[in-house]
Amino acid sequence: MGVVAQGRAAITAHRADRRSGLSQREKCCVLVYRRTYSVCVAAIGFLLFLEVCLLYLPDPFTLEPLVSAENSAVTLLIWTHPFGRYGKLPDCSALFQIDGCTLTDDERAYPQADAVIVHHREVAKGTAELPPDPRPSAQKWIWMNYESPAHTPILWRFEGVFNLTLSYRTDSDIFLPYGYLIPREHTDRTPQNRYAHPLHTPSHSHLLKPRLLAWVISNWSESHARVAFYYQLRRYVQVDVFGRAGRPLPEDSGGGSVVRLVERYQFYLALENSQHTDYITEKLWNAVLAGAVPVVLGPSRKNYERFLPPEAFIHVDDFPSVRGLARYLLMLRRNPVRLRRHLDWRGSYSVHQPAFWAEHYCTACRAVRRNRHKTDVVKDLTYWFRS
Ligand SMILES: *[C@@H]1O[C@H](CO)[C@@H](O)[C@H](O)[C@H]1NC(C)=O
Ligand SMILES: *[C@@H]1O[C@H](CO)[C@@H](O)[C@H](O)[C@H]1NC(C)=O
Repeated sequence: MGVVAQGRAAITAHRADRRSGLSQREKCCVLVYRRTYSVCVAAIGFLLFLEVCLLYLPDPFTLEPLVSAENSAVTLLIWTHPFGRYGKLPDCSALFQIDGCTLTDDERAYPQADAVIVHHREVAKGTAELPPDPRPSAQKWIWMNYESPAHTPILWRFEGVFNLTLSYRTDSDIFLPYGYLIPREHTDRTPQNRYAHPLHTPSHSHLLKPRLLAWVISNWSESHARVAFYYQLRRYVQVDVFGRAGRPLPEDSGGGSVVRLVERYQFYLALENSQHTDYITEKLWNAVLAGAVPVVLGPSRKNYERFLPPEAFIHVDDFPSVRGLARYLLMLRRNPVRLRRHLDWRGSYSVHQPAFWAEHYCTACRAVRRNRHKTDVVKDLTYWFRS
């Protein structure tokens, strides 16, 4: 894998503020990336990345416009704690070196707040109302949502209401995915990297993991494409199923224990509950962390390739039949040299999974500071989010 894939990973990670203000430099990066067919262009692209795209890593405050921290400071009101679960508000400066942010969940700050983050679930289900009229004129309302369109009801009610979107979609105004790769040579450049996990190329013993294929599934539904896929796959290979519908998960069933469980497997089924643009969740990143090769069902292969090198995952669409896929997995099990091709990319990356919701709030705050004097309106929320 060459510079192209590395650049790709870098670019996907850094599209914050994209829809509302793709700068010339970013456009140039995207263009360069799209024409990566000749080696020459790739080389130029790489140089440009080093010089230009790095500016858009989720940090660099040294590159902020020249305004003093004081007059660019903003107050961000968290309208509801997502899913009704109280979470301590983060110190963006200490955690991410994002300065000038006052975060509050006290609604008395509403008239003065520069921006309000509204999490979709609560206002859609009616457990919370939108902020009241009159709406402060320079205030930005930010729509935040990490569910797939299939689980995002009543979008139509919010047409023309919000000013910015914050979601896992790469074309959100404020983009923050469930996880992303950071090329190793960039890892000292962003504060987020304190929280990133370096990946490793597998040792020989690592390639010979004892078990073949695992799947952790919490929401089993016969209507999901992933369940139909599983029924077919298990005709050809052993699938160890964990979660409510299978074997019990280890005690603390947070992300950490899933990763430890999956570490014993060569492959992991990272099957999304529904298939939508950029909807690639922690299932994928848990497999990556665990060093298992993810077998993915979700958006298209091309879409996954925005986030990962092409050989880093096996897509269910790579094979004309589920049987073909099963055979391929069994072939790889017997053939460590071939399996290694799916894992060698790891040596060049770290993986970062943003914590819900601290990094989301701080990333939003940074975007609000940057967009301060602009007017933004999210017009086609339903159409856009479902596209
Ligand atoms: C589980 O899946 C069903 C069917 O798609 C869906 O209606 C439900 O909201 C899901 N539950 C959770 C907790 O995601
Ligand atoms: C925010 O959106 C509202 C509703 O569309 C709009 O009236 C207002 O001008 C926007 N404000 C800013 C600061 O973008």
